[in-house]
Amino acid sequence: MSSALADPPSLHPHLLLRRLHSLLGLVPLGAFLCFHLWENSQSRLGALHYNERVVGALHRLNYLPLIELVLIALPLLFHAGYGLVILRSGRAEPGRYPYLRNRLYWFQRLSGLGLILFLLLHVGLTRIAGLFDPAIAADLHGYMQAALRQPWLLPIYLLGLGLAVLHLANGLATAAIVWGLTSSAAAQRRFGWACAGLGLLLAALGVQGLFGFLAP
Ligand code: HEM
Repeated sequence: MSSALADPPSLHPHLLLRRLHSLLGLVPLGAFLCFHLWENSQSRLGALHYNERVVGALHRLNYLPLIELVLIALPLLFHAGYGLVILRSGRAEPGRYPYLRNRLYWFQRLSGLGLILFLLLHVGLTRIAGLFDPAIAADLHGYMQAALRQPWLLPIYLLGLGLAVLHLANGLATAAIVWGLTSSAAAQRRFGWACAGLGLLLAALGVQGLFGFLAP
């Protein structure tokens, strides 16, 4: 008997992993991305406020490394790892379905790949570098200002930000379909517009945060 007949469809391990991948993309990763962009949008309030009231307050949290590991690093590792598995199983037929949904399907996968590269750079430059040099954590605002003033880094950050918010906004729209919240075409269209609005809002917040570091 084939395993497809032996396993009830709802208990198939791939379906469970697919649901877990979707859930982790929304909470905690999507929620963290919103929080992170809001947190960094406060860069415009100046070095003293940002270093002391934003980063300092976070760093005074008990069990911060554990919280980061459980709520960010492990979910991201699983989501990215299983994302690569999904990517390998997809079929590249860009010309066959020339519709927006098909383009967005492929955008979701390619932006995931781009995000792996961007997140390696971003986490390396900030969190990992801070582990080796306490001066970075003490003045993260000054450190980010100097980093973003290098002409090659700001465009990379703008691109990484764009990939992250579009990946989340489009992911939210597809997750609503996966979880059965938007079943009709009209509901999917309406929710798609709402997600696009959210994506624009998050992009504006993120751009404001990046340029906030550069303000004199
Ligand atoms: C900023 C970090 C990230 C966030 C907030 C995020 C969020 C999401 C969300 C909400 C979804 C929709 C889930 C669904 O369709 O049910 C999704 C889908 C996806 N993500 Fe991510 N993601 C992130 C990083 C990554 C990375 C690094 C990869 C690496 C490959 C990746 C690969 C994918 C793939 C392939 C899908 C499509 C799944 C499908 O349609 O079957 N994601 N992501």
